[in-house]
Amino acid sequence: MTTTIYVFSGTGNSLWAARSLAAKLPCARVESVVRASCGSPRVDSDSVGIVFPVHMWGLPPRVVELASRLEVPAGAYLFAVAVNAGQVARTLVQLRELLEERSLKLAAGESLVMPSSYIPWGGPGPKRKQEARFEQAREKLDALSARVARHEPGQIEVGPLWQRLAFTAAYKATYPHLGRMDRRFWTDERCNRCGACARVCPAANVVLDSGKPHWQGRCEQCFACLQWCPRQAVQYGKKTPRYPR
Ligand SMILES: Cc1cc2nc3c(=O)[nH]c(=O)nc-3n(C[C@H](O)[C@H](O)[C@H](O)COP(=O)(O)O)c2cc1C
Ligand code: SF4
Ligand code: SF4
Repeated sequence: MTTTIYVFSGTGNSLWAARSLAAKLPCARVESVVRASCGSPRVDSDSVGIVFPVHMWGLPPRVVELASRLEVPAGAYLFAVAVNAGQVARTLVQLRELLEERSLKLAAGESLVMPSSYIPWGGPGPKRKQEARFEQAREKLDALSARVARHEPGQIEVGPLWQRLAFTAAYKATYPHLGRMDRRFWTDERCNRCGACARVCPAANVVLDSGKPHWQGRCEQCFACLQWCPRQAVQYGKKTPRYPR
């Protein structure tokens, strides 16, 4: 049995989840969704996973794109992990429907609650809460890896009805404007022009001018630039200076 796990991750949680899963499965490899978007995402594994963060109560654009182009062998076991901070809403159903349009069946869709990367709303929270989420995530990944190994169908997890109703509408309203939402990024006086924010951006959306970062309007709202700044100098709107990453 071989497994390919596609991963998209802004701030590292999904990468951790994908690597943890791969470590529990024989002959498993982790592939970058960003790299796959440059070529043809075709795999010959008999199990294929997609691990990604929930953004704005739905799929990030890179995952929408992957789902529209992914090619897997007939009969492959397809599974997904939607990494989120407690509001998975209808994200995994959205993925199932996109795959169904291409006659691909999502056999299992797991919601994995992990520390929040959305710093404007307070970020990851206290260490104890973060550790508890990691512990629960480990347990869920153990169970999922056993299911993947057996090619056993699982449920497609969803949030409560109120989330699905209210937030699916919010996702649809926000999605077309993601690119320009980077207008709210700015840097404070701690920026030492190291360039890390530009290097981690999956969309080449951060351009340095004499070392100073400028956002270009094609943002995917992954928050990698904000999270990985070694000096916590990247801010978004008014609230983030108050919150740790
Ligand atoms: C722009 C943005 C939007 C987010 N929207 C949601 C959301 O709708 N529901 C949720 O539960 N978490 C949301 N989050 C939190 C992330 O899904 C969560 O922290 C995830 O673990 C991040 O994964 P990553 O580290 O692989 O990027 C959002 C984070 C960002 C940056
Ligand atoms: S990563 Fe931070 S310190 Fe480095 S250039 Fe970007 S904003 Fe400045
Ligand atoms: S600019 Fe920042 S938030 Fe936007 S895609 Fe690049 S790293 Fe992600």
